[in-house]
Amino acid sequence: MQNKKIIIAIDGFSSCGKSTLAKSLACELGYAYIDSGAMYRVVTLVALQNNWISNGISDKEKIIKGLENISISFKFIRETEKNTTFLNGKNVEEQIRMLDVSNNVSPISAIKEVRQEMVKFQRQMGEEKRIVMDGRDIGTVVFPQAELKIFMTASPEIRAQRRFDELIGKGQKVSMEEVIKNINERDFIDQNRKESPLRKADDAIVLDNSNYTLEGQLEWALQKAREVIEANEN
Ligand code: DC
Repeated sequence: MQNKKIIIAIDGFSSCGKSTLAKSLACELGYAYIDSGAMYRVVTLVALQNNWISNGISDKEKIIKGLENISISFKFIRETEKNTTFLNGKNVEEQIRMLDVSNNVSPISAIKEVRQEMVKFQRQMGEEKRIVMDGRDIGTVVFPQAELKIFMTASPEIRAQRRFDELIGKGQKVSMEEVIKNINERDFIDQNRKESPLRKADDAIVLDNSNYTLEGQLEWALQKAREVIEANEN
């Protein structure tokens, strides 16, 4: 069963726990985990560093031109046991998780040319299959042929609390109000943008994990994955 190759696409709202599930699922199956959101975060980081975003307004032309000089890669670091994001060979994992990046990433990810470039890269990473990729458009646009598609959701209160705990845990100074505002804004932009808006693929199965434990949701997803892998053996 380990050798059977499928693509698992996990989409859903921000702070639903997509990456937690995707990572543990990939680990159990011996698959690679790819965080597509990290790629949009890297582009946002570069735009912020170069002052291509000011007062929430982004200079689209500069950002599109800047894509030429962005090389993104991922590595699993043994010491930290973390999938880590690199920009032109430099570890930017912590920087891309800062609130400043979160606050500016949705408009950047709505730029058509940025999406085209990221989707190209995401498809390359999926050529060999055996991957779990999480994001917003993985089951709809990046891999519409994915054998298993999961659409994750959870109540807004639970998502805000999880995000708040995560940021505080990292030592960032944020208020619950800021976190709720950021989640609401990102939901709105992600669902209403013209380019590849967040939506459930028709053939995705829904996982509302508001009342699931981490083990419970992993068990649920593993069961689904095993069924699909077995079905693909024939
Ligand atoms: O999953 P995340 O919160 O790290 O994603 C950061 C942002 O990138 C999010 O606001 C939406 C966007 N995104 C996207 O548009 N398409 C993806 N496949 C992944 C993320």
